[in-house]
Amino acid sequence: MITCKRKEKEMENVFYMDHPLIQHKISMLRAVQTGTNEFRKLVEEIAVLMAYEALRDLPTEDVEITTPLETCMTPMLSGKKLAIVPILRAGLGMVNGILTLVPSAKVGHVGLYRDPVTHEPHEYYCKLPEAIGERLILVADPMLATGGSAEAAVDFIKQKGGTNIKFMCIIAAPEGVERLHKKHPDVQIYCGHLDRCLNENAYICPGLGDAGDRIFGTK
Ligand code: PRP
Ligand code: URA
Repeated sequence: MITCKRKEKEMENVFYMDHPLIQHKISMLRAVQTGTNEFRKLVEEIAVLMAYEALRDLPTEDVEITTPLETCMTPMLSGKKLAIVPILRAGLGMVNGILTLVPSAKVGHVGLYRDPVTHEPHEYYCKLPEAIGERLILVADPMLATGGSAEAAVDFIKQKGGTNIKFMCIIAAPEGVERLHKKHPDVQIYCGHLDRCLNENAYICPGLGDAGDRIFGTK
């Protein structure tokens, strides 16, 4: 059963989660009184549920298995290589959740921060697993605001040879979805929720505030 929906017909690679568990947990994330410990747990749980959807098309192959009753051919994952690439810092909060589903995935990192004035991303780190061109790459960041960070992360990954890329975010602004989709139409975008707009500081409204600060308890 498909539980995520495409909203815009012209944005064929954009998927919005409509599962009630995801929506409930996102509402709890938003609440200003949700503390660091609970916030971290929620981000991780949402990442599990979203990765379940984003990995729906993982290839399988039939293998022979002997049950206590008989031998049969039955599907198992065909060993597609995976890479999870969180955008530092906030994307780190989603990694363990995704790894609970695909524990053998390799983990790369792209370090970006938004300039507080221009809101444009600046790279400070990029390290990806070997054979990146052969892997399905799941880029993770809780927030897709202007889309600058996601666009830059996908640019780096493509420059290093990545081709099969999916992007997962918990909350997106329409501006970010449009920018990422326009620049990288081949990348499937999975959004937990599409919010209303960006404010004058390029924060998502209603949003949840600064995801990195809330995950790591900084300010
Ligand atoms: C946040 C968020 C995204 C980015 C989204 O990171 O985690 O990476 O902003 O904004 P954009 O779509 O306008 O680029 P931030 O730069 O605050 O860094 P942090 O994760 O270290 O807190
Ligand atoms: N980054 C965040 O953490 N939150 C926003 O609303 C926008 C960018």
